[in-house]
Amino acid sequence: MVCLGNICRSPLAEGILRSKVDPSKVIVDSAGTLDLHVGHSPDSRSISVGKKYDIDITQQCGRQFKMEDFETFDIIYVMDVSNKENVMKLAQNEFQREKVKLILDEIFPGENVEVPDPYFGGNEGFENVYRLLNEACEEIAKRF
Ligand code: 4NP
Repeated sequence: MVCLGNICRSPLAEGILRSKVDPSKVIVDSAGTLDLHVGHSPDSRSISVGKKYDIDITQQCGRQFKMEDFETFDIIYVMDVSNKENVMKLAQNEFQREKVKLILDEIFPGENVEVPDPYFGGNEGFENVYRLLNEACEEIAKRF
């Protein structure tokens, strides 16, 4: 799960998907394309909305997306088109580029719908992010 800062959207996406899959079958992780929040806990507003729905993301720690992630993971879900462009710059071949998917394509196929960045807004933005990610992760989890 990849966003810009790895403190708002992708930590929630990681926590939500992890709650829906068998950990012995699926490894879920998250990262940001920025290095600004490396080592930081998730944003308190993401922690709060997670807690509201029984998703504990307090143990997560921000990290930056790296080239080796293309080898470690089968699918790289990005939150928006800008994340996708940033991640694609690090891909080394077509096989790796094909791993990168907009997460909301899971529920709005081919429509290029983005998970809005809630960082500069209020709590309602985080609630909306939760709702979108929960629906998308429900679809993803059906495959495992
Ligand atoms: P995220 O939100 O990409 O969902 O983690 C952001 C967090 C921090 C910043 C931007 C977006 N920032 O510019 O610091």
